[in-house]
Amino acid sequence: MSDVMTVGIDQMAVYVPPFKLEMGDLASVRGVDPKKFELGIGQDEMAVAPLTQDTVAMGLNAAIQLFDRADKVDQQRLDAISLVIFASETGVDHSKAGAVFLTDLLPIKQGVRSFEVKQACYGGTAGLQLATSYVHQHPEETVLVVASDNAKYGLKSGGEPTQGAGAVAMLISQDPRIAKVSDVSAYHTADVADFWRPTDQEYPLVDGPLSKKAYLDFFNDTFTSFIGLTHQTIADFTAICCHVPYTKLGEKALAPYLEECDKETAKRLRQYYQQAVRYNRVVGNIYTGSLYLSLFSLLAHEPNLAPDSEIGMFSYGSGAVGEFFSLYLSENYTQEIQKHRFEQQLTARNTLTIDEYEALFEEKIPTKAKDFVVTNDHHDPSEYQLKAINNGHRVYSNPKNR
Ligand code: CAA
Repeated sequence: MSDVMTVGIDQMAVYVPPFKLEMGDLASVRGVDPKKFELGIGQDEMAVAPLTQDTVAMGLNAAIQLFDRADKVDQQRLDAISLVIFASETGVDHSKAGAVFLTDLLPIKQGVRSFEVKQACYGGTAGLQLATSYVHQHPEETVLVVASDNAKYGLKSGGEPTQGAGAVAMLISQDPRIAKVSDVSAYHTADVADFWRPTDQEYPLVDGPLSKKAYLDFFNDTFTSFIGLTHQTIADFTAICCHVPYTKLGEKALAPYLEECDKETAKRLRQYYQQAVRYNRVVGNIYTGSLYLSLFSLLAHEPNLAPDSEIGMFSYGSGAVGEFFSLYLSENYTQEIQKHRFEQQLTARNTLTIDEYEALFEEKIPTKAKDFVVTNDHHDPSEYQLKAINNGHRVYSNPKNR
């Protein structure tokens, strides 16, 4: 292993399902002041997934975008995938990894390792850090990390305005073309009953106020440790991205530090934080992928950040695990961020009425169904879709017909 080898995110792509709800519409029907959702929580729209888009289908629809755009260098790196990691807290099976479906249905060579990681919203970061270490050990190989979730709290629940759905796919390699992952990282685990989902529960059990406090405590703990380990100050970061259960919470985490630092740093970090949550504002919480959707948003809206700019990354998964690490931007990162393609997905979404949203929300695969056909009643145009349950086994459309 060479001392100068850099490892990190080589490519990334995001998928959102083709339906959304306006937060103003939700506020009016729930008897809430729309300003609470817009300003107090900081959300404008939320993505809604139809039955055809379970977390595996969404993960496939994110990952296929990496393969679709392959040039020669990409193809070599895609051919070198030897590990597929699926991160989710809303996976489709208690035993089988979503990564197994991905490995089977994407154009990935035979003979790879595949598994799923879980620790609430921290899973995407667990996957990225594992993948980074793996590539340091196996420099000629690459890793596909897919973070996919359908965040549902229940109709009329306290968490309803913080729902969302979507997936982020990242290819991890040496000489990454988007960003290098820092060698130093600060992390923390503590048993906190803020948000969890026992295996017999459809929706999470949530203590909203405690979850906000735990998020802020974990930010303080890991950020302070990171600064201590690296002997840095907040001014060293070009931008800081946070896990985004809703956009206001990351803002609250940064606020005390921005009050204490110089005005120029505070202005820059505030401005870039807002750029980094533009997509999260219209997608909602996508749990494991939220931090990476935020990174994608920052890079899509700020195409001229200097090479080696340091981006602070705060990951939080209830229960709870937090981590603060950083990324160093590669010189031509902008070329790898397919902003236009993602925004086409956003603008093509259908806006649901409240009645349509509630009906779609309640569509479910019958519990313990061994055989069930998932009809595409809502005209989901996505490439990969859940088609059926056959003898208990999930069957997906296979557009590549491999
Ligand atoms: N105009 C402007 N602002 C208003 C307002 C109005 N008319 N009415 C209320 N607000 C503000 C409130 O003052 C409050 O601001 P602060 O947080 O600064 O105090 C904000 O809007 C939210 O108000 P409440 O806390 O009273 O809202 P709530 O009781 O409806 O709960 C919630 C909000 C806790 C986020 C709830 O939606 C929830 O439980 N969501 C799920 C859990 C969650 O997302 N927790 C986040 C941390 S956990 C995590 O990060 C992991 C994860 O992804 C789940």
